[in-house]
Amino acid sequence: MQQIGFYKEAIDRALAGAKLPESPQGLYAPIEYILSLGGKRLRPVLTLMACECFQGEYQKAIPAALAVELFHNFSLIHDDIMDQAPLRRGHQTVHHKWDLNTGILSGDALLILAYRHFESYPPETFSALSKLFSQTAIEVCEGQQYDIDFEQREEVGMEEYLQMINYKTAVLVGAAMKMGAIVAQVDRVQQDLIYEFGRSLGVAFQLQDDFLDAFGDPEVFGKQVGGDILSSKKTFLYISAMTKGTLEQQQALLDYFGNQNIESSEKVKQVKTLFEATGATQAIQESIKEHTQRAFAQLDQAHLSDQAKAYLSDFGKALMNRNV
Ligand code: IPE
Ligand code: IPE
Ligand code: MG
Ligand code: MG
Ligand code: MG
Repeated sequence: MQQIGFYKEAIDRALAGAKLPESPQGLYAPIEYILSLGGKRLRPVLTLMACECFQGEYQKAIPAALAVELFHNFSLIHDDIMDQAPLRRGHQTVHHKWDLNTGILSGDALLILAYRHFESYPPETFSALSKLFSQTAIEVCEGQQYDIDFEQREEVGMEEYLQMINYKTAVLVGAAMKMGAIVAQVDRVQQDLIYEFGRSLGVAFQLQDDFLDAFGDPEVFGKQVGGDILSSKKTFLYISAMTKGTLEQQQALLDYFGNQNIESSEKVKQVKTLFEATGATQAIQESIKEHTQRAFAQLDQAHLSDQAKAYLSDFGKALMNRNV
């Protein structure tokens, strides 16, 4: 096993080495742009780590890892359109810097470029990877649709929310790890165990993202803080505040969410105060811990060395405490 930074550098090098065509610039410049803005490279790093934890060579997992990262960047370009987000990774989003059509088409192209990376694998591995990838991709679309549908609904249950984030975010984290296991050629049981570990970690990861969206440091977070509140997203914080709050607090939250005339920063400030006062902020922290613990219990069942288990659980703990 190597340090996390080692895997991240391997990904960044491979991304920089995968040259895009020169023209049309209108299609490829936005792709270069979003990839050059960096990001944590969490998912492809997990692909490489999973491969090595199962005794595979990380180099063999690089094409699969690139596919996962390109898919993720495709989903971000389209997500920013859907969420009307101005900022990504501390810079303008693609559809703000260019326009809507550019965001749609360069996102589509990124998705296709992602699939192409599987072509370097022998038939059996190719088939297993692309099957998993397609299933995951359709689930991400389903999750994204629920996310948007929920904006219009006043009431969303916690179970529905958890299912939504399972699809929009967690399945890709699970799939990223399972791809590493597929490349390392371990059996189905081990592949599925590492998938479940990644999926639980992915749920915790999205909960943390919801928390940071409201309470993150604007200087560090790289996205518009309060964006979820302004889009009426039914995040864990909102659902929890509506469950735990007094009738008065619930009504106040409904009023703020329904009010399009109030100044943005004032709305975000007031809603955050309600999240704190109702105990939702505390509850989300507990839920992040709970899902991370669930991930560790699943990891425990996998046939991995104690060293590999310790390595992956340290990574999980670090994710839980991230601020970006
Ligand atoms: C953002 O993912 C989208 C979510 C699923 C929360 P990341 O937080 O991994 O974004 P980058 O790649 O590091 O920018
Ligand atoms: C994004 O969820 C999930 C996908 C991109 C599929 P969010 O909308 O919360 O992600 P951010 O916060 O914009 O990164
Ligand atoms: Mg978004
Ligand atoms: Mg979104
Ligand atoms: Mg978010």
